[in-house]
Amino acid sequence: MSAVRAFGPGRVNLIGEHTDYNDGLCLPFAIAAGVTVEATDGPDGAIAAHAADLGEDDAFALDPDVEPGDGWRTFVRGTAAELLRAGHALRGATLTIRGDVPRGSGLSSSAALEVALALALLAHDGLAEPVDRRDLARLCSRVENDWVGAQTGLLDQLAALFGEEGHAVRLDMRTLTIEPVPLRLDGWRLVTVDSGVEHTHAGSGYNDRRRECRAAAEQLGVTSLRDATADTAARLPAPLDRRVRHVLAENTRVDEAVAALRGGDLERLGALLDASHASLRDDYEVSVPEVDRLVERLRGDGAAGARMVGGGFGGAVLALYPPGAEPPSDALAVAPGPPARLLEAE
Ligand code: GLA
Repeated sequence: MSAVRAFGPGRVNLIGEHTDYNDGLCLPFAIAAGVTVEATDGPDGAIAAHAADLGEDDAFALDPDVEPGDGWRTFVRGTAAELLRAGHALRGATLTIRGDVPRGSGLSSSAALEVALALALLAHDGLAEPVDRRDLARLCSRVENDWVGAQTGLLDQLAALFGEEGHAVRLDMRTLTIEPVPLRLDGWRLVTVDSGVEHTHAGSGYNDRRRECRAAAEQLGVTSLRDATADTAARLPAPLDRRVRHVLAENTRVDEAVAALRGGDLERLGALLDASHASLRDDYEVSVPEVDRLVERLRGDGAAGARMVGGGFGGAVLALYPPGAEPPSDALAVAPGPPARLLEAE
């Protein structure tokens, strides 16, 4: 069989950070940068994988209980194993992986890799548009949770699988309702700038925040913080009170951002980005000084708003520039692009 190629985009979360695992609201968009996986026939009952950007290889049996391996290999082994566990009888394949999402920058290179791998392996197996995309998002998220050890939510995988050209997508994590919202920039620019501090989810305070949110929900007697109220949250012991305050305010900001986009009010969107950053820095405490300094610098240089994106503890800053203001030379322009998909074979 000839080669199949699949692409998984990175994502920028416009606003709605650390809300996904609290049944909350997020507003991400898929970006043009991403990961491409090519699958060709390979060894019988096994995968041979080549990470072209790193010049590294892996080989493993198609076994739902394969050893996880390390680094990028864990994603490849985990995705193949989760597909097998979900009942897909995968054929042996040789995989070539290439990407242009900066790793560890908060643009979700890992979800891009998982969804591209899953689409390529399924297509190699003859399934051109597989399974329900929400199920596929959950499957890829199990790779993070059960293989990599990062208790991340569904934001990144849903953004990669449901992104839409020219749109951000409002995700309601409780109902998994996905609503495209036109993102018209009209001469404004969205950029990301890397702070140079690399973050990892498994090793950072990310899992601590998840534990705190669970503890707060338990103490409030609600199933998730989506049902918390500001009044009762204020009576929680510190720092849980601050954590809940962030989640509630951030959910509200998502709908304010949707309204700002629908009304073409990008000035207002900038103010919401600033408010989100302050909340992530002071109440949720997932920023680091380098990122805070970068946010300040970009604001000083003319951005209408700026904030950390992704899990935090390093990574990139998202900034919104009005017409005429100049982002720094190391900024990466980001715009909403199409979702994960199969590509024509080369
Ligand atoms: C990471 C996780 C997401 C989400 C964000 C924070 O990107 O993978 O699930 O929790 O952090 O909003």
